[in-house]
Amino acid sequence: MSTKPVFVVAGVGNGQGTGAASAHEFSKAGYRVALIARNGDTLQKLADELKQAGGEAKAFPVTSYEQSTLHATFAQIRAEWPGAPIRVAVWNAGDAVWKPFLDVTEEELRKTTDTNIIGSFAFAREAILSFKDLELDEVGKRGALIFTSATAALRGNKTTSVFAAGKFALRSLSQSLAKEFGPQNIHVSTAIIDGPILTDRSKARQGDKYDEWSKNENVRIRPESIAKSYLYLANQDRSAWTWELDLRAAHEPW
Ligand SMILES: NC(=O)c1ccc[n+]([C@@H]2O[C@H](COP(=O)([O-])OP(=O)(O)OC[C@H]3O[C@@H](n4cnc5c(N)ncnc54)[C@H](OP(=O)(O)O)[C@@H]3O)[C@@H](O)[C@H]2O)c1
Repeated sequence: MSTKPVFVVAGVGNGQGTGAASAHEFSKAGYRVALIARNGDTLQKLADELKQAGGEAKAFPVTSYEQSTLHATFAQIRAEWPGAPIRVAVWNAGDAVWKPFLDVTEEELRKTTDTNIIGSFAFAREAILSFKDLELDEVGKRGALIFTSATAALRGNKTTSVFAAGKFALRSLSQSLAKEFGPQNIHVSTAIIDGPILTDRSKARQGDKYDEWSKNENVRIRPESIAKSYLYLANQDRSAWTWELDLRAAHEPW
């Protein structure tokens, strides 16, 4: 078994967004790809696409992102590629509830908390445990942990009480981990995606404006462009590490 590194991503949705684009980008860069998500069919399809393109990839479907599940999943990843170092881990999963505060149910709050907070903590734990005993790589790190975040990590808005709570938690988690594990040469970063990402789920959000919006390079964020930034983060040398990266399209009216 060669020591070709492993890239792990959690949260692949329907295979059209940032999770899938990151898998393609890191596969092209020479990583083995471990795909973790809740939709097993999409996951297998993406693993097949990566293999057809010449990469090594495996789907690890999960029913939830709870700690015991992710612990077992990381053990399966290590067993799949014995001796291969897990070098990059991306927490991309996100459940969103966009509703006026008084319409939010306790069930919705618990469901999104399970993914956005309990899940992100559990994933971070497994990533750091995977990195901490590795030798330094050629850019001076043991591993890179990247969180996909959103504008809602910085400010709440009318319908984002639940979503913003989760993304605020993600931001403070990533900052705490960057401080705690930087001295162990583990690079933790977070990407604030400050604008809408071009996925087929955007269709519902953009409504009648979708066609015009999706063709306008100035206003929508391509998942492939986010993925390139993740590879850039992973390749940063230890003399200048980004903790928080802010990505927006050229004409984003912030
Ligand atoms: N889309 C945007 O405009 C936007 C803007 C800013 C930030 N973000 C953040 O960026 C990350 C990636 O989002 P993305 O839009 O690029 O999509 P993505 O990479 O395909 O990821 C989608 C995530 O949403 C989950 N999900 C929940 N309901 C879903 C549904 N009905 N269809 C598909 N996926 C569903 C998926 O869970 P499983 O994979 O476990 O099934 C997965 O974790 C998320 O953390 C999100 O909060 C998105």
